[in-house]
Order: sequence, then structure tokens, then C-alpha cells
Amino acid sequence: MTSTFTIAIDGPAGAGKGTLARRLADHYRLNLLDTGLTYRAVAHSLLRLGLPLDNVSAAETAARQVDLAKLDRAVLSAHAVGEAASKVAVIPSVRRILVDKQRDFAKTPPGAVLDGRDIGTVVCPDADVKLYVTASAEVRAKRRLDEIESIGGTANFDEILADIVRRDERDMGRMDSPLKPAADAHLLDTSEMAIEAAFLAAQAIIDDVLAKRNEA
Ligand code: DC
Repeated sequence: MTSTFTIAIDGPAGAGKGTLARRLADHYRLNLLDTGLTYRAVAHSLLRLGLPLDNVSAAETAARQVDLAKLDRAVLSAHAVGEAASKVAVIPSVRRILVDKQRDFAKTPPGAVLDGRDIGTVVCPDADVKLYVTASAEVRAKRRLDEIESIGGTANFDEILADIVRRDERDMGRMDSPLKPAADAHLLDTSEMAIEAAFLAAQAIIDDVLAKRNEA
């Protein structure tokens, strides 16, 4: 790979795009950015300051302070932070500030895998490969329940499902940069596919693009 190479991965919460993004970044030796963490960082700042999530100027300030090199997944992965992130993500000026940072990241050699909701449509519309990873809401809720139970927690399936449906509605229904597949995205439905199968399917698509690029 001589110039930068960009892989854009979008999809709803819990579809498996984070795991897939990590596998692909490792395999193709690209940088990796989970853009959800940038929205989570803004939400976390507001929560910590006790400010409402629709305080636009405070959210803009928090967005400007986001440092992509210092995103702390352990702190930001809390469920409540994800819910709050989905709310600050409707603010257009916050999106513009974060998208600029995400684009700069993508341009850094050797290129990157970015995952989020608007990577193929807004952040990197010229990405070399675009994947839209999805799974039914029920499958995503079951995976989340298994994950919680595997670390000794307890949760209620119906409540998790209701949360997922609500988050999908907010992410797909917002005015600015709603979650949707780019026209040229490859769809990967992981409802009945293990992560390894999804990785192999993605790898076949990417290898094909790389081969054509090398021929050109
Ligand atoms: O992927 P995640 O659960 O960490 O994302 C948290 C929220 O951030 C998600 O519900 C919507 C928002 N988000 C976004 O609007 N655009 C992105 N590119 C990534 C996340």
C-alpha cells in the first residue's frame, strides 16, 4: 500500500462492527478509530459536569477538547455513556467538530479502519471499501445479554431489546448524518454469521479492491 487506504464500517449498535474493525485493522496493518468513542467522550464530559445533554455550547467545547489519542475505552464503554452519546450526536455543530478530527485521522498514512454510523456517507465518502454491518435487533440484544452474563452480571432481555430499538430509532431518525448504508456499501448481515465468517467475507471484498488497485 503506497498511499492511504481507508475502510469505512457503519452499522447499528451491537452488530459486531467494532470486533470486525479491530480484526481488519490488525490484518491489514491500518490505524483504527472507533468513532463512537468520540461521541461518548463528549457525552462523558457533560455527564461529569452535571450539564444537560442538549447544552450546545458546552457540548461544542467538549468536542473541541476531544483528543483521539486519549480516548479511554474502559471509562467510555458504560451503557449510560452510550445512551448519552446518541443524544449529543444529534447536535450538528458537535458532529462537524468531531468529523474534522476523524477525517484528519483517516488521512494519516498508512490509512485506517474507521467504524461508526456515518463513515461511508459523511466522514469518508471516498473510502476504498465501505461495509455496512447489521444484525436483527433480537440477535443484537441476545449478544449483549450473553456478554453481560459472561462477566457475571444480570440483565433483562426485554429491557435490552427496548434500549436497542430506541437507540436505532434515534441514530437512524436524526436530521444530520443519520445511520444508513452508503449507496456503494457492501452489506454484511451478521444475524446468522459468526464473527470469523464476517471477517472472511470482509477480507474477500477488501482483497478484491486491493488487487484491482494494484492492477491499475
Ligand atoms: O458505536 P457506539 O455505541 O459507541 O456509539 C455511541 C453513539 O454515538 C451512537 O448511538 C450514535 C453516536 N455515533 C454517531 O452518531 N456517529 C458515529 N460515527 C459514531 C457514533
